[in-house]
Amino acid sequence: MDLLSFARGPALQWALVIFVLGSLWRLAGILLLRRKPDYAEPRSRATWRGALKLVVTRTWSRREFRASTAFGQSLGYVFHMGLVVVVFGFVPHILFIHSLTGLQWPGLPSSIVYVSGALTVAALVAALVRRLSHPVLRLLSNFDDYFSWLVTVTPVATGLLAVAHLGARYETLLAVHILSVCLLLAWLPFGKLMHVFLVFISRGTTGALFARKGAST
Ligand code: HEM
Ligand code: HEM
Repeated sequence: MDLLSFARGPALQWALVIFVLGSLWRLAGILLLRRKPDYAEPRSRATWRGALKLVVTRTWSRREFRASTAFGQSLGYVFHMGLVVVVFGFVPHILFIHSLTGLQWPGLPSSIVYVSGALTVAALVAALVRRLSHPVLRLLSNFDDYFSWLVTVTPVATGLLAVAHLGARYETLLAVHILSVCLLLAWLPFGKLMHVFLVFISRGTTGALFARKGAST
């Protein structure tokens, strides 16, 4: 079996199995956690409203923190939106998703996908430079932060190399691209990339707790 068939076949299948089972395992572990009873008198019973409010208000920092967080947060928005365009807008990717799920939609022109890919890589590199050069952020960063960064940037970089035919034969570049996607899928449930599923659950939980305590958010 050549590298491309291995990447497209068993590697991708196993990565998808690990991704699905790992994500379900993590979600079940978190959602089925027993909560300690809270005997304090609730200040408010509108906990759903508190949850929804925080989900919305945390899409941007509070005014007091804006000056120091705006740059990092903008980088976050650029690379997340870039990832959405690249993963769901590129015609070969849509064909792949169609073969897996039966779903399909119209694709974007390839040039838009390539520009988004390049912007995504640039924003991710800037986020890494910021992490390494910011004394506090650097102190707080661990293996998960750096490895999650690496497995996020590699599929975009190898995808761009493949379409540019840069560095090796097209089949080899494509195989490396698909293997890098496998690594991303297999790692996603076990580190901070699990925020894909957890980000709104954790914001909502915090918002509901704040509402119960009567904290202003
Ligand atoms: C439902 C979809 C997603 C949401 C709502 C989301 C939201 C977020 C938020 C709020 C942050 C913190 C940003 C900050 O520090 O300013 C973050 C960071 C990050 N996200 Fe996502 N994300 C999503 C999907 C993804 C996916 C699919 C990937 C990669 C495959 C990803 C990769 C990352 C990375 C690498 C970081 C850390 C960046 C750094 O080093 O500072 N995210 N995400
Ligand atoms: C600008 C960035 C990217 C470019 C230019 C690109 C390009 C490509 C190309 C040309 C293929 C081959 C399609 C084929 O011949 O069958 C491919 C396949 C694939 N790409 Fe990307 N890609 C990029 C980013 C990504 C990202 C970020 C992901 C996921 C995180 C991804 C996931 C996949 C998958 C799963 C396949 C496998 C399709 C199959 O087995 O046929 N790609 N990509």
